[in-house]
Amino acid sequence: MKAHDTTGWRNPWFRKSILWLIVLTVGAFLAGFVLLPSVHSDFSAKGVWASICRAAGVPADWSFGTAPRQAATATDVVLDRSMGKEGSRQAVGRGATLALNCTMCHGAQGMSTSDAPNLSGQYPEVIIKQLMDYRGGKRGSPIMVALSRNLSDEDIADLAAYYAQLPKARTAPTTYDEELPALVRVGAPLRNIAPCVSCHGGIDQKFGAPWLEGMPKGYLALQLKAFRSGERGNDSEAQMRNVARTMTDAEIEDVSAFYARKAGPRTE
Ligand code: HEC
Ligand code: HEC
Repeated sequence: MKAHDTTGWRNPWFRKSILWLIVLTVGAFLAGFVLLPSVHSDFSAKGVWASICRAAGVPADWSFGTAPRQAATATDVVLDRSMGKEGSRQAVGRGATLALNCTMCHGAQGMSTSDAPNLSGQYPEVIIKQLMDYRGGKRGSPIMVALSRNLSDEDIADLAAYYAQLPKARTAPTTYDEELPALVRVGAPLRNIAPCVSCHGGIDQKFGAPWLEGMPKGYLALQLKAFRSGERGNDSEAQMRNVARTMTDAEIEDVSAFYARKAGPRTE
């Protein structure tokens, strides 16, 4: 008779130890990657890889995709036609007083001499929406988030009424102008980019789309890049993120230079 085989698979102790190893490994995985992360207050199921990273101690804000980040910045302001109404004289007067706090950066008459945006002649609903987005932390800018924190809804409406009745920096482009950059005039149909003039004035002005003519070039380029990276995500239905997503640096430079060109007759 063959001697009892004490090595390998036939040994019941060996089989038992393998079984225990498997049980312990699976148990440790479950505890480390599912149970422990799930009891953290900020746990959200973002898939196995995210759980592994969390379990290994990787900070949660080291970006697990862009979705949660955009959700956090999505606007909660619902544009309402009444926001576009002309303000009363009292509202304009109160707005003018409040606006004394803004001249340092946005200029004495809302015409900025720095890279802050012009507010002069801006549509009231744009000023209202943007200030509410800053106030609610939906549009990031340390300066503007801090400055809008203590503004009431009425303060915001009054400021908008004041700035809206100041003159615009320049008139809308005519679409017959062949010098308009292609993106501004016809967009890029193959990339699903609608022409800027179909929302920002020229052909049509979409409610809530800001007046861009005469804005500082640095400001325009910064905003387009922020939309492109998703860092700015307060545009309703991702309207601007969809436009900017495939824009190249050269195109951003080009359209920003175009909208920033100075008011007055153009020299040929
Ligand atoms: C210290 C400088 C500073 C002051 C003071 C300031 N702003 Fe601003 N403001 C900025 C900058 C810079 C931006 C652009 C920030 C960004 O990139 O989002 C901005 C953006 C804005 C926008 C968005 C405009 C747009 O076209 O999207 C509004 C509206 C605005 N400011 C209103 C105000 C009002 C009203 C006040 C006064 C209560 C004020 N700001 C005071 C610097 C300033
Ligand atoms: C489908 C309509 C639409 C098209 C097309 C569009 N925009 Fe916009 N754009 C918007 C809206 C709406 C906003 C305001 C988003 C918000 O609420 O913050 C905006 C905001 C912007 C801003 C930020 C301005 C500010 O003061 O906050 C810039 C810059 C801009 N657009 C540039 C462009 C350029 C350049 C193009 C063409 C390449 C373009 N947009 C095409 C709708 C559009």
